Amino acid sequence: MPQRHEIVVREYQRSADLERILEIAAALPAWFTRSGILSMRADLRYQCGFVAEDGNKKVVGFISFFVNQGKAEIGWIGIRPELHRQGVGRSLLHRLLRELEPAQVSELYVHTLGDAVDYEPYQRTRKFYRQMGFQDFKRIANPENPECEEELILLLKLPV
Ligand SMILES: CC(C)(COP(=O)(O)OP(=O)(O)OC[C@H]1O[C@@H](n2cnc3c(N)ncnc32)[C@H](O)[C@@H]1OP(=O)(O)O)[C@@H](O)C(=O)NCCC(=O)NCCS
Repeated sequence: MPQRHEIVVREYQRSADLERILEIAAALPAWFTRSGILSMRADLRYQCGFVAEDGNKKVVGFISFFVNQGKAEIGWIGIRPELHRQGVGRSLLHRLLRELEPAQVSELYVHTLGDAVDYEPYQRTRKFYRQMGFQDFKRIANPENPECEEELILLLKLPV
């Protein structure tokens, strides 16, 4: 199993990395549905981001983002399941924060499944975001959407 120090984070290359990222997403069915992966395929044609490679240059994680009206948002993030909790997500997020620094972006948002939905995998996801310093910003009830009956928007305030 790769150790933390073997992970290298580099910029996401649209043409070369898209299918590798979608493979990781497909290996995370507890988080990403087929329709989610279809959306990801479209979004990643336009979003920027970073990938994490292991010591064999295999892509094992990704983070994408976009900026709109001076506010940044994480589009998609995922790490190969066997590498969860080894600091890869943290490394990708820190790389994104460094990217946002020169533009003096002060707010980074992310949308996720809300705590009102009793679904364990996303409890882990929220723990990650909260541990990284994100705070609850807004909850949106979507009773008509069985895939996301409550959406939680989290906000990380960035020093400018
Ligand atoms: C959420 C995700 C991106 C986090 O990446 P990761 O590499 O597993 O997380 P890290 O190892 O960098 O975790 C950093 C810290 O977050 C917290 N954390 C992460 N996963 C956690 C878990 N399962 N339980 C409790 N705390 C957790 C810990 O404090 C951890 O630090 P520590 O291990 O030193 O205590 C990853 O688990 C993932 O791909 N999840 C599935 C996809 C997903 O949820 N995408 C987002 C949809 S909105």
